[in-house]
Amino acid sequence: MGWLGNVFSSKKNQLSESFDISRIRTDMHSHIIPGIDDGARSIDESIAIIQKLKSLGYQKLITTPHIMAEVYPNNRQTITSGLDALKKELDRLQLEIEIEAAAEYYFDDNFFQNVQKGDVLTFSDNYALVEFSFHSEPSNENVLFFEMQMKGYKPVLAHFERYTYFNEFLDKAKLYKELGVNIQMNLNSLTGHYGQTVKKQAEKLIESNLVDFVATDCHRIQHLTLLEAHINDYYFCKLNSLDFKNAIL
Ligand SMILES: [Fe+2]
Repeated sequence: MGWLGNVFSSKKNQLSESFDISRIRTDMHSHIIPGIDDGARSIDESIAIIQKLKSLGYQKLITTPHIMAEVYPNNRQTITSGLDALKKELDRLQLEIEIEAAAEYYFDDNFFQNVQKGDVLTFSDNYALVEFSFHSEPSNENVLFFEMQMKGYKPVLAHFERYTYFNEFLDKAKLYKELGVNIQMNLNSLTGHYGQTVKKQAEKLIESNLVDFVATDCHRIQHLTLLEAHINDYYFCKLNSLDFKNAIL
């Protein structure tokens, strides 16, 4: 981040317009199917979150339950039936919003096997969301990304800014992009929700225009009230001048 960024980020409401979520249109990373991962715990909680997402300006939701062997052993069946139940409740309440499901795949052997079998839950034009460990740097991830693309999948790396082992360097983000990987950033990283290191990294990603997708990664309604409270912050306003692939989903 240059000195201009430092000057402006220290002052709020520098830009006249607040972050326009309706321009983002689609949220493509969240955990709002109840009871199948660490996201929404009940159908009522799911509905409250969806109402809030709609009131913030989202028109379409692609929710992405965790698939992580043993911890969250989800599959096509658990996710599809959870989504169906949620859609029924939305219909009953006459709460209109476009909603689909894919998954957030943990980078492990299980996922690699799913890729090789061609059995991956995707969204839109074959995008597949993958996350790394928060603690240790992945190895051979380029092989996975290559294999994914050979099978026709478009890799999306979840919340790049949260992998603090990449330090403050953006080299990895640039390298991944060269390899055809889409970079996704969590909006709440800009609020400081995940700590100052992650916040700084998110700001750098925005300054360098390296972000393909932005998302709420919403697990609780508090994620959304926090986001709403920061909607006039400098970096959120800056998002209005950038184009993200969310709008084409
Ligand atoms: Fe997530």
